[in-house]
Amino acid sequence: MRFTKVLVLASVMMGSAVWTSVSADGEAVYNSGCLACHMPGVAGAPKLGDKDAWAARIAQGIEVMYENAIQGFQGQTGMMPAKGGFVHLSDDDVKAAVDYMVSQSQ
Ligand code: HEC
Repeated sequence: MRFTKVLVLASVMMGSAVWTSVSADGEAVYNSGCLACHMPGVAGAPKLGDKDAWAARIAQGIEVMYENAIQGFQGQTGMMPAKGGFVHLSDDDVKAAVDYMVSQSQ
């Protein structure tokens, strides 16, 4: 468990360094930060590729998901920080990452 936390922190830190040169490439945005929670499914985050975990979210409509990802929200399973905590991302970066995550999870 402790090992997982260290890994998550390391990926978040690496992500911030990489992100300065990324613009609206959803997969790159995902890979450089969102995956810290969404790949292992940390703290209630829906895992990438877990169709069951995403089905009800996708059913709300993409606009709701964009807004929840950009503004952050407290849901049934955990707390999604605004932009995943990466405030320097543009709204379009976040939307592109959401599109990527949805495309991998339905
Ligand atoms: C610190 C951990 C963490 C990070 C980093 C993170 N998320 Fe999340 N995310 C969560 C959690 C937890 C939830 C589930 C909240 C709930 O439904 O209770 C969530 C839910 C979501 C959802 C579902 C929204 C909905 O309406 O159900 C989307 C989309 C999403 N995240 C996108 C992103 C994107 C894009 C990034 C990167 C920019 C990101 N997340 C980074 C923790 C994180």
